[in-house]
Amino acid sequence: MTGLVLKDIRKSYGHVKVLHGIDLEIKEGEFIVFVGPSGCGKSTLLRMIAGLEDITSGEMYIDGQLVNDVPPSKRGIAMVFQSYALYPHMTVYDNMAFGMRIAGESKDEIDRRVRSAANILQLGPYLDRLPKALSGGQRQRVAIGRAICRDPKVFLFDEPLSNLDAALRVATRIEIAKLNEQMADTTMIYVTHDQVEAMTLADRIVVLSAGKIEQVGPPLELYERPANLFVAGFIGSPAMNIMPSTIIETGAVTRIKLKDGSEVAVDIETAATEKGKTASFGVRPEDLSVATGDQFLFEGTVSIVEALGEVTLLYVMGPVEEEPIVVKLPGIVDVKKGQTVRFSADKTKLHLFDAAGQTYRH
Ligand SMILES: Nc1ncnc2c1ncn2[C@@H]1O[C@H](COP(=O)(O)OP(=O)(O)OP(=O)(O)O)[C@@H](O)[C@H]1O
Ligand SMILES: [Mg+2]
Repeated sequence: MTGLVLKDIRKSYGHVKVLHGIDLEIKEGEFIVFVGPSGCGKSTLLRMIAGLEDITSGEMYIDGQLVNDVPPSKRGIAMVFQSYALYPHMTVYDNMAFGMRIAGESKDEIDRRVRSAANILQLGPYLDRLPKALSGGQRQRVAIGRAICRDPKVFLFDEPLSNLDAALRVATRIEIAKLNEQMADTTMIYVTHDQVEAMTLADRIVVLSAGKIEQVGPPLELYERPANLFVAGFIGSPAMNIMPSTIIETGAVTRIKLKDGSEVAVDIETAATEKGKTASFGVRPEDLSVATGDQFLFEGTVSIVEALGEVTLLYVMGPVEEEPIVVKLPGIVDVKKGQTVRFSADKTKLHLFDAAGQTYRH
C-alpha cells in the first residue's frame, strides 16, 4: 500500500498563494527529504501533511485514506520541530510518556515504549533528568523519542538539527539514519537546509522552489542529472559554475562558445534547430582539475585560494569576466593567488541548459 499521495495540493493564505499544485507519491517506509530556499513552502507542506494547516485544494491520502478532513491526532503522524518544546517541569521519561498517558495507554505499554525509544536513542541514562540538565542534542533526541513513542506511520521532521552545533548535528544525523533503519516500515519526511543531511538521509529528495516541485529523485540522480538550472544550482556545494554561452555546432557532440570567445565541446546531443541559441553551460567545482596536457577547458587567474586541508577552493577569474569560477581540488594544492592556471574537465561531466533553464540530456 502506498504511504502517502498528494494530488494537486494547493495552499493560499488569503490572496497569497504559497503552494501551486504539489503532486507527489511517497512509498511506505521511504525517507523523503524536502529542500528548497527559505520561504518556498517546505514547512507549510509538512504542516499540511500533519493536519496542522488546512488544505486549500487538492487531495491528500495516507495509506489510501483521504485525510483532507481528518484531524492531526487521527492521522498516525508524529512531528519533530526545530525547537523541541519539551515540558520543562517533567523528566525525560515523563516527557516521552505524556502523550501515551493522555491517550490512556496501560502503564506497562507506556514503560515498554519509553524504554524502547530510549534504547534506540541512547537516552537510558537520562530518563530521570529534567530537560534543563540536558545538552541541546540530548533534548532533541528526547523530542524524537517522544515522537517514536506514538508509534507513528509517518514521521515528520522540520529542520530538527538546525539548532545544534556542527559536531552534534553529525552525531544526531547518524542517530536519525539508524532510527530510519530500525523503523523500516515508517515513512519519514524530513525538511532541511543542510546538503549533507539531504544527500545522506534521503531515499529521494524533493526540490521545491516558490511553491512548486522542481525535481524529485534519488540524491545522486539530482546531483548527476539535474532537470533544470535551479536544481543544478541548488544541489551540490559549492554550487555548480554556470556560464552564458551560445551553441555554435549541433549533433552528437555540441560545441558552444563562451563569452570570452573560447569554444567547448560537450558530450550532449542537440538538434540542428538549436544552433545559434543561447545556453547556460555548467560545470561543478569538483569536476574541474588542473590541466596537464594541451587540452584545457578554460584558463584563468586565481583570485582567492581557500585551503581547507581536505580540499582547496580556488576562485578563478576566467571566461566570465564579472564572476569567478569556483574550482574544488582534493587536498592541499600548490597554487598561489595571481597565478594563471588552465583547467580541464571530463566531457561527460559538463552540463548544458536551454534558454528556459531546462537541461539538454546527455
Ligand atoms: N500563516 C501564514 N500567513 C501568511 N503567510 C504565511 C503563513 N505561513 C507561512 N506563510 C508564507 O508562506 C510561505 C512559505 O512558508 P514556509 O514556512 O512554508 O517556508 P519554508 O520553505 O519552510 O521556509 P524556511 O526554509 O525559511 O523555513 C512564505 O512566504 C511565508 O511567508
Ligand atoms: Mg520552514
